[in-house]
Amino acid sequence: MQSLTLEARTKYLLIQKISQINIRRCLIMFQSKAVSHPAEVTVSNHSIDSQSLQKKPLENPIIETSHTNLVTVVLIDDQPFIGEAVRRILETETDIAFNYISDPTQAIQRAIALAPTVILLDMVMPEVDGLMLLRWFRSHPATCDVPIIMLSNKEEAKLKARTFTDGANDYLIKLPDAVELIARIRYHSRAYNNFKALNQAAATAQLQVQLIQTEKMSSLKRMVAGVAHEVNNPVNFIHGNLNHLHNHVESILNLIKLYQQEYPQPTPVIQEEAENINFDFIIEDLSKIVSSMKLGTERIRDIVKSLRNFSRLDEADKKLVSIDDGIESTLLILSPRLKSGIKIIKEYGDLPLIECYPAKLNQVFMNIISNAIDVLLDNPEQTEKIIIIKTIKTDDQKVNIRIQDNGCGMNAEIKGKIFDPFFTTKPVNQGTGLGLTISYQIIKKHRGKIEVKSESGYGTEFIIEIPITLNNVR
Ligand SMILES: Nc1ncnc2c1ncn2[C@@H]1O[C@H](COP(=O)(O)OP(=O)(O)OP(=O)(O)O)[C@@H](O)[C@H]1O
Ligand SMILES: [Mg+2]
Repeated sequence: MQSLTLEARTKYLLIQKISQINIRRCLIMFQSKAVSHPAEVTVSNHSIDSQSLQKKPLENPIIETSHTNLVTVVLIDDQPFIGEAVRRILETETDIAFNYISDPTQAIQRAIALAPTVILLDMVMPEVDGLMLLRWFRSHPATCDVPIIMLSNKEEAKLKARTFTDGANDYLIKLPDAVELIARIRYHSRAYNNFKALNQAAATAQLQVQLIQTEKMSSLKRMVAGVAHEVNNPVNFIHGNLNHLHNHVESILNLIKLYQQEYPQPTPVIQEEAENINFDFIIEDLSKIVSSMKLGTERIRDIVKSLRNFSRLDEADKKLVSIDDGIESTLLILSPRLKSGIKIIKEYGDLPLIECYPAKLNQVFMNIISNAIDVLLDNPEQTEKIIIIKTIKTDDQKVNIRIQDNGCGMNAEIKGKIFDPFFTTKPVNQGTGLGLTISYQIIKKHRGKIEVKSESGYGTEFIIEIPITLNNVR
């Protein structure tokens, strides 16, 4: 199991533990069977001859087994009589497919093609050392997890320990007792099949997580992009015409001034109307109104830019972007929720442009800041609600993004699960428990790290570290 990750190892050990209980039950059944029908089990692990094998074929022993757990055994041993002996031990087991490889130089290729659920591997062979083959199997992705039972003539503790260090799962003295061999083959195969099924289930769950979050985010992004697009045209239209309006207003005002100079004594009707509409104020205010309308449309154009920046539907590839812009556009999307009394403190460092997948990174900011807002709004009694966002460039060509809140924090148990798919403490229909799972994956894709510091009652801080360039990662 050398090449397994820690997580995979834990899973495997767990399955082995479950299988261990089954194997005990299995052995008890075998023992009772052996006692009541002693002649059935005739192959001893020390004395074997082809005659006794021929004379006393094994009957089908009663084993608690499920046919969903099909077993494929590959025996690699240069001695054909061992091959024949094992074949006979297994021939009556309908759920076990047996394959024998006598030429160790062919073992690797053939074993991969046979996709075994367990490999029986001879320790000492003339051309290829068993331990060398063992290490090779462990290093190949097709066989790295397949259980390997070493077969040896030597009952030496040190040798056994060595094989386990090199990745063996079991060690048996040749030729093992038939009952024990079958039980161990089934035990390891079941553990392996369960392990594969679990990995498959984990992969399916992972895919589901991605699909749900991707769908959730892409709906949001589509909506944001749609709104931005719809607002963009009329606002540009207004903004463009405001310049003309400004010029026209200036021209009319000049003309009025000219009239006033040329006809300093207006008629009483005009005079009365001028007083009624507060003409002097209108003249003074008109230019100001046009200028503030211009400011307003500029602000709307900025907002539209931010919305487009957030959705970045057109930017699925990696790009050089400003992290601060990404955070700003995220805050803009979240601004209606922030208005309920949450103070944002920004401490942006002097960051270079970062090579990243901008839409994905915005999704991470969105998930983390939304969570912070959730906890802060969840506690109406809290008077001062603060989110601090810091960006820092570290010495080693990386940037740190820290998002801290002064909410209720998390205890160690919750903290240990927050990156697990579907883990949520929020009420049904409020949280899917995917935000942080997907954020973790996105940061991993950027070859970065995401950490959380939190203590119950003392707030939470998420620390994201990503490299400045995606290619040049140390
Ligand atoms: N800033 C925080 N303070 C306290 N608890 C937090 C914080 N951020 C996350 N959590 C905890 O982590 C859990 C998982 O967060 P995650 O974002 O993955 O899912 P969610 O917010 O529950 O649902 P959603 O999929 O809608 O984001 C939350 O339910 C919450 O218990
Ligand atoms: Mg969330």
